[in-house]
Amino acid sequence: MPKISNKGLEMPESPIRKLVPFAEAATKKGRKIYQLNIGQPDIKTPEAALDAVRKHDIEVLSYSHSAGFESYREKLAGYYQKTALPVNKEDIIITTGGSEALLFAMGSITDPGDEVIIPEPFYANYNGFATASGVKIKPIQSSIENNFALPPISEFEKLISEKTKAILLCNPGNPTGYLYTKEEVKQLADLALKHDLFIVSDEVYREFAYDGAEHHSIMSLPELAENAIMVDSVSKRYSMCGARIGCLVSKNKEVIATAMKFAQARLSPPTFAQIASEAALDTPQSYFDDVIEQYTFRRNLLVEGLEKIEGVKVAKPKGAFYCIAELPVEDADDFARWLLEDFQDDNETVMVAPAAGFYSTPNTGKNQVRIAYVLKKENLERAIDILEKALKEYNQQH
Ligand SMILES: Cc1ncc(COP(=O)(O)O)c(C=O)c1O
Repeated sequence: MPKISNKGLEMPESPIRKLVPFAEAATKKGRKIYQLNIGQPDIKTPEAALDAVRKHDIEVLSYSHSAGFESYREKLAGYYQKTALPVNKEDIIITTGGSEALLFAMGSITDPGDEVIIPEPFYANYNGFATASGVKIKPIQSSIENNFALPPISEFEKLISEKTKAILLCNPGNPTGYLYTKEEVKQLADLALKHDLFIVSDEVYREFAYDGAEHHSIMSLPELAENAIMVDSVSKRYSMCGARIGCLVSKNKEVIATAMKFAQARLSPPTFAQIASEAALDTPQSYFDDVIEQYTFRRNLLVEGLEKIEGVKVAKPKGAFYCIAELPVEDADDFARWLLEDFQDDNETVMVAPAAGFYSTPNTGKNQVRIAYVLKKENLERAIDILEKALKEYNQQH
């Protein structure tokens, strides 16, 4: 039989999706599962976005410009300008989700064997994008003890070599919920300038900052114009994960020209989804105010609920809609599978994402899980109740 590539063999499984077969089997048994494992919000997509597609009278569903509709890029630049980011339409390439923007960014700035430094735990698919691009991730550990704040700059310095091309940041963080402070972003910027590195800042959760905290974008620093690449997406902002629209943003013209070649190779981002995304930009601020209120409520409910469970430690998130919780178990992977295979309370159970897959340092995060607070009040309360009962039973059995 012809052989699969080494790269293909090395592609990691998604830790978020690998438990799906167990969940399917549990569902077949008639079990109800509260899904705390994936970042699929239950928030409604803005009507304006859905209406724009419903009411469109397209006769030919054609390709668009490889960088995306000009009208969309112009309006999107206006959205960034409203938060004082100096972004113009020429600085934007519309992509098929933030995922493609991450691939284009890696493709544009790294060669096989190059290294990218990433604070861990990090969004697990960075592993996949790095493998696909032949890039080596150099993880730098952040800790639950200080809510996953930026590790000291001296730790980054230790990892920088002639192979280092970039620092990849997720702000606010998935899976940590950490929101970097202005000082932290500035420290990283100084480091990037000192060593002539790119900073790729994944800001797909940029709207989700709580307790009145401000989000500090990498694009807000003029001195970093040549080094900064921002990745963004409509998936979470407008609860439009299925639209598959994101973007890559940079003031560095060479980066944009290079990423454009990748964009041309895949022809164009999806047309209907761009229509929806452009219309979504008319979403009133009140939508976000409601959503932020909803997530703040859920976060508080979750964190307070988890803190009451014996042996559970949780980092209080300031942004996005995830938190990392340390559980009183040795192997959260085994616990997560057991929840689906062997446990039920009134024929219901929960699904969580084992956190080890969000680390690239081996044997790290083994007693942690990522929990997404994407469920409404009653379901979240019930899910916490189930988790508490399950931990008791698991620890009696093990
Ligand atoms: C941190 C982060 N970046 C990027 C993505 C990719 O999002 P999409 O491709 O849907 O825009 C996700 C999705 O969950 C994410 O959590």
